Amino acid sequence: VGYYPPPVEPGHVFQWTQKDHIEKAPAWCSVDLRDGNQSLIVPMSLEEKLEFYDMLVKIGFKEIEVGFPAASETEYEFLRKLIEENRVPSDVTLQVLTQCRDHIIRKTFEAVKGAPRAIIHFYNSTSVAQREQVFKKSKEEIKQIAVDGAKLVKQLSEEYEGNFLFEYSPESFTGTEPEYAVEVCNAVLDVMQPTPDRPMIINLPVTVEMSMPHVYANQIEWCSNHLKYRDSVILSTHPHNDRGCGVADAELAVLAGAQRVECCLFGNGERTGNVDAITLAMNMYSHGVDPHLDFSDMPAICEVYERVTRMHVYERSPYAGSLVFAAFSGSHQDAIAKGMTWRKEKGEHRWTCPYIPVDPHDIGRTYDADVIRINSQSGKGGIGFLLQQNYGYNPPPKMREDLGYRVKEVSDHEHRELGVKEVLYVFEKTYLNH
Ligand code: KIV
Ligand code: ZN
Repeated sequence: VGYYPPPVEPGHVFQWTQKDHIEKAPAWCSVDLRDGNQSLIVPMSLEEKLEFYDMLVKIGFKEIEVGFPAASETEYEFLRKLIEENRVPSDVTLQVLTQCRDHIIRKTFEAVKGAPRAIIHFYNSTSVAQREQVFKKSKEEIKQIAVDGAKLVKQLSEEYEGNFLFEYSPESFTGTEPEYAVEVCNAVLDVMQPTPDRPMIINLPVTVEMSMPHVYANQIEWCSNHLKYRDSVILSTHPHNDRGCGVADAELAVLAGAQRVECCLFGNGERTGNVDAITLAMNMYSHGVDPHLDFSDMPAICEVYERVTRMHVYERSPYAGSLVFAAFSGSHQDAIAKGMTWRKEKGEHRWTCPYIPVDPHDIGRTYDADVIRINSQSGKGGIGFLLQQNYGYNPPPKMREDLGYRVKEVSDHEHRELGVKEVLYVFEKTYLNH
């Protein structure tokens, strides 16, 4: 068994269980260019990284982990290019990752030299499995790696005199005893001495997802209550999706006290991926909370993502996939057609349409091409709605029913989806003798 449940004080009531939605956007940090990139079959070239970075800035990410510059020549060069060509807007902070190892920390500081602002993200593994099998070190020795890393980071930040913020991750947190993870984080905090106006990020990653999301949220809440310097700590979450619950991990972690989320577009990232930034942001949006990330041109974001990562956006990927607003079946089409008509007649500005979670227009999708789709499962309501919307025809009920059978028959016979022009063709040929 790879995880350790948090120690629960008797009678402890988890505050997060009292909430049913997130009221305010967390700080977002994109890790697409690091965690996302390191897990691609073919990592991005320098030009591709630049294009992706520009897109992340445009979407509105204010913190972007741009790589592990001490471990990769491309990432070193990419970072230098961003700095030397002044490509960092004044409200964006670059983040770089480094292990707690002397020469790697030193090279990382060299790489960020001259950056207007940078988050130095240092980490070491703390789980039982890594302590025993990989490092073969005791708890004290592993804690010492973190403390020595923190001391060097602090010393170099003073020598380089940059505008630095710091992040520490007890990597493999989900396989670490929470009391021990807090002990290590507190030792790091003692070195870094954060203050409310110079806070430090403590990131408790779901490096491998090992439990149900509420168990992780309990760990977050417990750690949040036991970290020192709490008013000077920005508590961060970084879920991976091994059990398919990365979004739930992040959402419950935020309810439990996490103030920041590290994420990737379309859930790219190691193995099953990092948590999907789009689902998180759009889930908030659909609850009327501004996520401060702009996904109003989703088709363009999908295009860039697919081209530079050589990955595919799954057809059913929440909010973004090509089929996520599509209704083929008759009863769904009928309800949607009625909902759209009702909304128009009432002049209702809120999105209330059955079966469609958000207004497709809000993310750059169309009603015409994306919602009512015709195949052999479709019904007279949807087919009639399409004719009316696109061509102004409003066939009477009996004719709609007959048309419905005819259109479905063609689709069934040819075993394929029909376009709206083909529906029009059947209509005109049958009833208007065109
Ligand atoms: O998944 C993880 O734990 C990481 C760390 C480096 C934060 O990516
Ligand atoms: Zn990760």
